[in-house]
Amino acid sequence: METGIVVFSQTGNTLAVAKKIKEKLESQGYTSNLEEVTIEGQASPGNKKVEFSKIPQVEEYDYIVFGSPVHAFSLPAPMSIYLEQLPSLKEKDVSFFVTKQLPFNWTGGNRAIDQMKRICEEKGATVKGMEVVNWREKKRNQDIIRCVENLGRKL
Ligand SMILES: Cc1cc2nc3c(=O)[nH]c(=O)nc-3n(C[C@H](O)[C@H](O)[C@H](O)COP(=O)(O)O)c2cc1C
Repeated sequence: METGIVVFSQTGNTLAVAKKIKEKLESQGYTSNLEEVTIEGQASPGNKKVEFSKIPQVEEYDYIVFGSPVHAFSLPAPMSIYLEQLPSLKEKDVSFFVTKQLPFNWTGGNRAIDQMKRICEEKGATVKGMEVVNWREKKRNQDIIRCVENLGRKL
């Protein structure tokens, strides 16, 4: 079966990490599809009305990496609504990562990850990995390397 990487990315940071995860999976011989959740206009915190222009399907994947930015200390509505509308994730392994700008653990990274984890576990998925990439800090590259290393493999 194939592996899937599904991201919501408004300014390209999350997408850039996703591309590296795809390369890593492919370097080990896995077939990997990278797909974006896209919407009309911009996501804005507090606005739960989202018009999707692309809703990736995940049935064909046995391992899925979901990636998202953090918006307003939280998971952006396009990603939470996208995950909520997915069918059962039973017998699928999933991992999550978020990219963010603000320092400190309490600025939304862990919360956004927890939100993705809760939704996917309710759908029966087995969670394999979770990573936070802080874009602004000096350790951005270290964060990216760790994220790609940990999520870019099947466990
Ligand atoms: C509307 C909005 C709200 C944001 N809120 C947060 C936040 O609460 N905490 C944080 O660390 N970064 C926050 N950020 C920064 C983004 O999470 C960060 O730039 C991320 O890497 C963007 O990913 P993308 O390029 O894939 O869209 C926010 C960005 C936007 C546009």
